[in-house]
Amino acid sequence: MTSIALDIETREMAADDLDDVLVIEHASFSIPWSRNIFLGEIETSFCHSLVALVKGRIVGYICFAIVCDEIHLRNIAVHRQWKRRGVASALLSRMVAVSSSEKARYGTLEVRKSNTAALNLYKKFGFVVEGIRPAYYSETREDALIMWADFGS
Ligand SMILES: CC(C)(COP(=O)(O)OP(=O)(O)OC[C@H]1O[C@@H](n2cnc3c(N)ncnc32)[C@H](O)[C@@H]1OP(=O)(O)O)[C@@H](O)C(=O)NCCC(=O)NCCS
Repeated sequence: MTSIALDIETREMAADDLDDVLVIEHASFSIPWSRNIFLGEIETSFCHSLVALVKGRIVGYICFAIVCDEIHLRNIAVHRQWKRRGVASALLSRMVAVSSSEKARYGTLEVRKSNTAALNLYKKFGFVVEGIRPAYYSETREDALIMWADFGS
């Protein structure tokens, strides 16, 4: 099957987006973030939250925080109907662009060891596994891999 390239827009997340964001969040994670957590991200000055839209419909989002010269990727998810169409890549590209404008050279994140889709995605953006947090995810005691990227190299 040939997939047609999507016209993906990105913009800052607003409180009015949260009904749509929470549908994707609940479908994506066993322990989803609450509305209040997203509201906190939107309202915190060093946090950035973006949504991706296709034809005006929210199809994914990303949340990251910038502290000194580091970006911490805190959350990213894509609606199941729009996966593997470049939505997460568009969101990560925006994050990398923000890192450049904010002079944040390094990126870091935690990812479940078994999350092949996310691991492959992050590797495409230059993240490498630098450490492990044993049994980091409380519900399954799965390890988290700690990944870092040097956007300045
Ligand atoms: C991980 C996730 C965000 C990827 O979103 P996406 O929009 O489908 O990703 P993209 O289309 O931009 O894919 C970019 C690359 O990621 C990798 N990738 C994405 N999905 C993959 C999959 N199912 N299997 C293997 N690699 C995958 C590929 O390298 C892909 O490039 P390619 O399509 O050219 O091969 C999405 O699967 C998702 O929402 N997962 C549930 C939430 C989650 O796990 N978030 C991460 C928490 S750490």
